[in-house]
Amino acid sequence: MRTRYWLVIIFSVIVLPTQAAQPGKAAIASAHYLATEAGHKILAKGGNAFDAAVAVSSVLAVVEQTSSGLGGGAFWMLHRASDGYDVMIDGREMAPAAAHKDMYLNTDGSVNRDLAVHGPLAAGIPGEVAGLDHIAVNYGNLPLAESLKPAIRIAREGFPVYTKFHRMLTYTQKFIRRWPAATKAFLPGGELPEVGQVIRLPDMARVLEKIAAEGRDGFYKGEIAQRLVDGVVAAGGIWSLEDLAGYVIKERAPIRTNYRGYELVTAPPPSSGGIAIAEILNILSPYQLETLGKVQRTHLVIEAMRRAYRDRALYLGDSDFYPVPIDMLTDMNYAAGLRAGIMFDQATPSDMIPGRDGLPEGTDTSHFSIIDREGNMVAATLTVNLPFGSSFMVPGTGFVLNNEMDDFSAKPGEPNAYGLIGFTANEIQPFKRPLSSMSPTLMLGKDRVAAIGTPGGGRIISMVLLGLLDFMEGNEPESWVSLPRYHHQFLPDKVSVEPEAFTAEEIAALEAMGHTVEVRNRTWGNMHGVMWHRQTGEVTAGSDPRQDAGKAIVR
Ligand code: GLY
Repeated sequence: MRTRYWLVIIFSVIVLPTQAAQPGKAAIASAHYLATEAGHKILAKGGNAFDAAVAVSSVLAVVEQTSSGLGGGAFWMLHRASDGYDVMIDGREMAPAAAHKDMYLNTDGSVNRDLAVHGPLAAGIPGEVAGLDHIAVNYGNLPLAESLKPAIRIAREGFPVYTKFHRMLTYTQKFIRRWPAATKAFLPGGELPEVGQVIRLPDMARVLEKIAAEGRDGFYKGEIAQRLVDGVVAAGGIWSLEDLAGYVIKERAPIRTNYRGYELVTAPPPSSGGIAIAEILNILSPYQLETLGKVQRTHLVIEAMRRAYRDRALYLGDSDFYPVPIDMLTDMNYAAGLRAGIMFDQATPSDMIPGRDGLPEGTDTSHFSIIDREGNMVAATLTVNLPFGSSFMVPGTGFVLNNEMDDFSAKPGEPNAYGLIGFTANEIQPFKRPLSSMSPTLMLGKDRVAAIGTPGGGRIISMVLLGLLDFMEGNEPESWVSLPRYHHQFLPDKVSVEPEAFTAEEIAALEAMGHTVEVRNRTWGNMHGVMWHRQTGEVTAGSDPRQDAGKAIVR
């Protein structure tokens, strides 16, 4: 009897995987080292992953205005360890009340692209500040004011210009120069700052202090709101005080899908990301990808991407305004129908599949991933849309406004800045949220849990997908984030590939199957991921090596 007892114990220790109840350490990976450090500081003060998310988001809002900020929006995917609750906090920008579907059309019916992306008419009502307040109040351990402290200090003391910031500023300066407040903030003395030069944003520090003192009302009502509306209207925009006061955060039930024994928790509308990722994985699910050669496997993934991106263009928009067929698009039978049209050795030309689309790579937007020592997780993707958003800054505020209105379809079938087209599902309407590709995603399994995401416009979906497939193969965040990337978006009918992604022989083999392969001269994305191995308690993290300022820290 005694021997059997000991055998059971020895068997359990050696054979059965023990599960660490909580991660041994916390991990944060973000697009800027100051944001990652700020998140860890807040954890050290007794904050949880959600407080850290407020700190990371607000520091990124200061140091990475190329990509996100107080004048923009975000999706924060939260996982609460204590009860396993998952929710997406939708802080997406919203069309103002005076917006209408023809607001960017010239008298001849063509789209005025300048109005759609530059200046205050391009800006939706921002959601980021409401999101930070909502997360702190409903999910955090610490007051909002505590988690905003690092951002306030950095806005006041300044941060050094880094390579990516400099590159984006060089590209955007001609638009920034249209607006005196933005010029003063980012082009001190009217000159392009050098890498290493310190940028200080005292006006933004004051706005953040007001938010710290009054919560969301410090931004959406009172003095700051009045300043924003006056500034926007004086420069030709259509915001009102009612638009700001009426902005609401939406808690959205995530899209959930299963793949290879993992539950994926990902972004629902107004993002297109979660539905497209679920659709692609459903199409791929019967294939044993890991047993296939690289070319064969790439071919099948491309064919799945092609079909899901077609559906993105046709069916997706803000589901509060348009009946997005979520159940159909995420159904296994629907995927089986799409899979039936995939040939094992030949590309399907996109013009044999009804629908239209097209988009170049995006360099805007930001993503971070967090896991704390209790196992709470955040995957958050934040945006002002194009680099420095609309470039427009209201005097006395220190932050640029987004140009997220361009994520709507300004005219049926007319491409936006990413070459994306849309139809009724994504037409402009008052109070509607523009369709996004942002795909913050959690992977929940018995052995491993993880968070992943990236910026990159319409390419976000294909990047997150490739990262997920790499996770499924057992690889670490450092592998997901550095993996060479390829992308197919239905139309134009070609596979974009990063410079080192494939050998000449592999490209020739894909072309022989009928794929048009375009080797780009640059890379894309800025992915940040974290993972907890539940059996060992080990925590790992990875920050995309493609950009200079990102940092993953496990502590
Ligand atoms: N503005 C980029 C996106 O939301 O997809």
